[in-house]
Amino acid sequence: MKRSHEEHAARFDEKAADYDDDATPEYRACVSLVVDHADPDPDDVVVDLGCGTGAVGLRLATDADRVVGRDISEGMMEQARRKAAERGLDNVTVEEGTFREPNYDGPADVVVSNFAMHHLADEEKRAALEVIAGMEPRRFVLGDVMFFGEPDPEAPFYSPAVDDPATVGVLADALTAAGFSLTAVEMVHEQVGVLVAERAP
Ligand SMILES: C[S@@+](CC[C@H](N)C(=O)[O-])C[C@H]1O[C@@H](n2cnc3c(N)ncnc32)[C@H](O)[C@@H]1O
Repeated sequence: MKRSHEEHAARFDEKAADYDDDATPEYRACVSLVVDHADPDPDDVVVDLGCGTGAVGLRLATDADRVVGRDISEGMMEQARRKAAERGLDNVTVEEGTFREPNYDGPADVVVSNFAMHHLADEEKRAALEVIAGMEPRRFVLGDVMFFGEPDPEAPFYSPAVDDPATVGVLADALTAAGFSLTAVEMVHEQVGVLVAERAP
């Protein structure tokens, strides 16, 4: 990780109020694909790691029994809670938690994460995927900055000073090592994609 949790949290605290106005078409496509692939059942608990302002989690809350959001930025979480209240979604809880220590030990049928895991170094991503596998979801859907080809530090989807995206190959290997089967790969852009991973119950 190129920045500490505190530094990432402070960066997102600053952006939180305007975060939703700043979405690229690729980001929006990624959100939609993560929502579509998550496809929770009505009695499912969905856990959204790095939930931010709730772009994915709040959309899933109408289909699932409950959505549990975790993030490190109080500013982003405040926005998610405000939006949930405005939409009358009383089945959403958003609290502090990290990929490595989600601060949640309840059931998790579907875990999602969008545009957040690229803040972790590859070794930390592997450890985070082990933690996610330990939550025993039947499905994990990851939307993120990821390299289908050569990394391009000039590309607009990540900032090399603070972000650390992985190649699709590294993510696929790490998901498999954590006990998932990769069942779908969606390329949104050569540096943005969605991976769907399933676990035998
Ligand atoms: C680019 S935003 C994406 C937010 C949301 N998932 C979305 O799709 O709009 C990245 C989020 O990840 C959070 N984050 C960064 N590092 C994290 C970590 N180690 N654990 C949990 N959340 C983290 C940030 O605070 C931020 O809210």
